Parts: sequence; C-alpha cells; structure tokens
Amino acid sequence: MSKEFSTAAVIGAGTIGLSWTALFAGHGMDVWVSDPRPDLAEAVKTALAEFGSHLAKQGFDVEGLEDRVHLAGDVAEAVRHADIVQENGPEDVEFKKDLFATLVREAPSHALLLSSSSAIPSTAFTGDLEDASRVLIGHPFNPPHIMPLVEVVPGERTSEESVTQAVEFYRFVGRVPVVERKEMPGFVGNRLQNALNREAIYLVEQGVVTPEDVDAVITNSLGLRWATVGPFLGSHLGGGPGGYRHMAEHIGKGMKQMWAGLGQPKGDADETEMLIQAVEKAYGSSTYSELSETRDRKQLAILSVLDEITTNTDKEN
Ligand SMILES: NC(=O)c1ccc[n+]([C@@H]2O[C@H](COP(=O)([O-])OP(=O)(O)OC[C@H]3O[C@@H](n4cnc5c(N)ncnc54)[C@H](O)[C@@H]3O)[C@@H](O)[C@H]2O)c1
Repeated sequence: MSKEFSTAAVIGAGTIGLSWTALFAGHGMDVWVSDPRPDLAEAVKTALAEFGSHLAKQGFDVEGLEDRVHLAGDVAEAVRHADIVQENGPEDVEFKKDLFATLVREAPSHALLLSSSSAIPSTAFTGDLEDASRVLIGHPFNPPHIMPLVEVVPGERTSEESVTQAVEFYRFVGRVPVVERKEMPGFVGNRLQNALNREAIYLVEQGVVTPEDVDAVITNSLGLRWATVGPFLGSHLGGGPGGYRHMAEHIGKGMKQMWAGLGQPKGDADETEMLIQAVEKAYGSSTYSELSETRDRKQLAILSVLDEITTNTDKEN
C-alpha cells in the first residue's frame, strides 16, 4: 500500500459515497465516513457487504474490509488524519462552499480535497477560500467501485501538483483518471451522455421507438462497441484500411448533414410525464435491487473479460 494514500475521508455517504468507501477500504486504506443520516451505521454495513462481493470478483483483497471503515461524529473528525478527502454531499453550491471552507481548515495541509460533483465546477465553490490549490473535481460514474473512469477537473486555482497527485491517487485505487483542462458544464462524460439522451428522448417523443427499443439498440450495438473502442477509434476502424481520413472524407460528409436534423425534444412537463410512464411500463415490474444487481453482474463480467484480454495481449507483446 502507498504510504501517501493510507487514510481517506468520505464526506456524504449516499449512493456515491458508500461506493467510494468500499473501493478505498478494498485498497487497504483506512476510511473515515461522515454523514448526518440517522441510519449511517446500517447503510455502511449493508454497502460493505454488497460492494465487498463486487470488489472480491474484481480480484481485490476484501479481508477485514469492515475493520478499516470508521464512522466519524462530524466532518472535522473524519478528515483529521486524511491523506485524501472525497466529498459526496448534496449537489448544491452553497453546501459545497461551506463544506470546503471546513475541509481546508480541518484537514491536514497535505490532504487532497476532491469533490464528486457531477455538474458544479470547483471554481464555483472555492472563490472565498484563501487557498484553493488542493481542491479539484474527481467525478466518478455510478457506481465508482465498478466504473473505472474518474474525470479529474482542476479549477482555476488548483495547483498542477494536486492534479498529478489526484491522477496518482485514482490509479492507486484502480481507476482510470482522465484530466480535463476546462471546466465545461457537465464535464465530458455527462455532456456525451446528454447528447445521446436528448436524441433518445426525441425519438421516443416522435413515436419512432419505445424506451425499451432505444435500450435494445444501444446495448446490442453502440454499447458493446464503446466498451472496447471509443467513438474516434471506432470511426478510424469504420473507415477500413483508409482509417479516419476515409471515414471523414466519405461517409462522414453524409453524417454531418444529419447533424442539422438532430432532435430537440420539447422537455415540458407533459413530455416528462409521458417518458416516466413509458419507462415505468417497461421496467416497473422489477425492483431497484433486481435491476441494479443484474446491471452490476453484467458490468463486472464485461470488465473481467476485458481485463483478461488486456493481460493476455500484454503478455504476448
Ligand atoms: N448519483 C450519481 O449517479 C452520481 C454520479 C457521479 C457524481 N455524483 C455526485 O456525487 C454527489 C453525491 O451524489 P449522490 O447521488 O451520492 O447523492 P445522495 O443524495 O445519495 O447522497 C448525499 C449524501 O450527503 C449527505 N449529507 C447531507 N448533508 C451532509 C453534511 N453536512 N455532511 C456530510 N454528508 C451530508 C446526505 O445525508 C446523503 O447521504 C453529488 O455531488 C453528485 O452530483 C452523483
């Protein structure tokens, strides 16, 4: 275990914080958790049991996982010995302003202060801080103990050293960090997701397909492809031996004409209600646990096969 990253503080133990807790403890770290929720002890226990089994399937040593996780009475206690702090509280700029003022004051001076925020850039909540050099976004995809990507997004006053350390830290816990050099609203992953979701909603709104049909289109084509190659390498291969140049100069021309006709859904309350009812009709007969367990099982299986192929390819080369 790295000496530099031996103790973590997880602030906010909801969907994301509980998953980080298991991941960090699964990498041998001591983890201090702070959340005012009255059922904190029970929530942590349940999460460690469930997520611990996922980590074991990924080959991590989960022996003594619970012994490394500690409940803190408040934020100050949680961060007292932290090498890194991962914040996962409500997505609210005022909350994050107050909290990060406390973190800067209470955490050791070497501690990295990371926020899981999906949409609020760190520059928006660090303006009042005297020193914002250690604060930056480490945005995961749900659930972070399974999904490898972490978007590392420095704010205007984040130091380059903190960016390097954040990348090292997320690699240490087995993630794949990608540094993003501008604080775009929604960062990169959610912008891409929303571009696709906007078109998916439009196609349902227009009566072209149902939500289930859209899901079948994605999981049987683009989803499979994107687990192996991203859109650029996919296009490079789609162009055949002529590569991306052939794709861009030939098929790409027709695709560009399609951009102008992409849909703009209404986004009003009636449409939202129509979508809710359509999704509930499609999936409402299964419980959240049934659906999420199936999702996690499939994602772990994909990761395991990809990992095996990468290891074998590395050995061959
Ligand atoms: N859910 C996702 O898919 C997802 C994905 C990536 C990032 N995020 C981001 O992660 C953060 C947390 O999201 P979530 O989905 O886990 O939310 P959540 O509502 O499940 O959890 C938030 C937790 O913060 C706790 N909290 C409230 N006040 C607090 C305080 N003063 N100190 C400590 N904890 C406090 C709440 O009790 C709650 O348990 C948000 O910033 C969100 O944008 C969410």
